Amino acid sequence: MGKTYSKGLEGVIAAETKMSFIDGEKGVLEYVGIPIGELASHSTFEETVFLLWNLRLPKKDELARFQAELRKRYELPAGMAQRLLSLPRDAKPMHVIRTMVSALSMHDLNPDANDIPSLREKALNILARTPTLLAYFHRYRIGMPLVAPDPSLSIAENFLYMLNGERPTETMAKAMDVCLVLHADHGLNNSTFSARSVMSTQSDMYSAVTAAIGSLKGPLHGGANEGVMVMLNEIPSVDAAEKYVLDKLARKDKIMGFGHRIYKSYDPRAKHLQVLARQLASDTGNIALYDKSKRIEEVMATAVAAKGIYPNVDFYSATTYHCIGLPLDMFTPVFVIARIGGWAGHVIEQMGDNRLFRPDVDYTGPHGVAYTPVTKR
Ligand SMILES: CC(C)(COP(=O)(O)OP(=O)(O)OC[C@H]1O[C@@H](n2cnc3c(N)ncnc32)[C@H](O)[C@@H]1OP(=O)(O)O)[C@@H](O)C(=O)NCCC(=O)NCCS
Repeated sequence: MGKTYSKGLEGVIAAETKMSFIDGEKGVLEYVGIPIGELASHSTFEETVFLLWNLRLPKKDELARFQAELRKRYELPAGMAQRLLSLPRDAKPMHVIRTMVSALSMHDLNPDANDIPSLREKALNILARTPTLLAYFHRYRIGMPLVAPDPSLSIAENFLYMLNGERPTETMAKAMDVCLVLHADHGLNNSTFSARSVMSTQSDMYSAVTAAIGSLKGPLHGGANEGVMVMLNEIPSVDAAEKYVLDKLARKDKIMGFGHRIYKSYDPRAKHLQVLARQLASDTGNIALYDKSKRIEEVMATAVAAKGIYPNVDFYSATTYHCIGLPLDMFTPVFVIARIGGWAGHVIEQMGDNRLFRPDVDYTGPHGVAYTPVTKR
């Protein structure tokens, strides 16, 4: 087979999927053929995950069973909470969740079982328990009693309940749920590639998701939502936004929350999040934050839209998460909760038709170099 080199694997098709479709030129994203806007408006996170894992929407009773399967797994396995309570309180949540998802495998009697029913079982465990792990860690680090999960609540409601110790309002729970739907899957993004690559060695679901979390953490990937909030905090007012952005661009710095390897037009998820962010910001007295974001978008549109750089999913999710009341360092972990839906689905898809990922590398170093003894170097 002829070899071609593509830095960053840009333009390379490395897998087949039936889960999500992206048209980066037209700004289209579909899960199993359904436009993302439809799902954000009418579906729920649980239903969306069923869709991604089964490639069809559930019937009413199937959805109820799927929700029940998740809810009965909200509680952590015995010993897991103690393990969490031994972590340094100032550890960063993304490091905590990467470590604790990995640790979940030690509470699985057969962590390496890679048949499809076992992989689905593990996917349910990881998805149901990740919010509990994150909320417990947050309560522990702020010195508050842990709030046990409530199996009568959805993943979004339950996460906010365990985090804050009180039931979220319907608006907040809905906003959180929509964010989870919008972030659930996105083609062969870097973290999904990591998950599929690990699974292609026939490793295990926990290792695949752990690797994916490590990838998502990076500021060029899921970590960008925290970067956006840091930027918004650094800009003192709407009027100061233009100079801030232009100065950064002049220094060739990237503006977090803008640009995408695939989208060269407006990210359809960002469109939806913009509307959500504006609504929540006005409901929660954070309209100045939204206005700052809007101003940054306007400045970027004049400065760099010609290069195909528009807001991506992370840009307005920062304002949205802030208005929901999430601590800044929980923004990317929330992305983890959502994307477990995608990662686990891709792992299952990979194992349905596996081939080991093993690209080649172009060696550019010297050859035939004589060995120099250490005393002569
Ligand atoms: C996501 C990202 C890594 C995709 O980048 P990519 O496909 O590798 O594109 P490049 O970095 O090669 O960028 C192409 C051009 O657009 C510019 N550009 C891309 N994203 C930019 C941004 N966020 N701010 C300013 N300029 C940007 C680059 O400087 C480059 O300009 P040049 O051709 O004049 O050198 C990149 O857009 C980025 O770093 N964005 C900020 C982080 C972010 O929001 N990540 C979340 C993605 S969902």
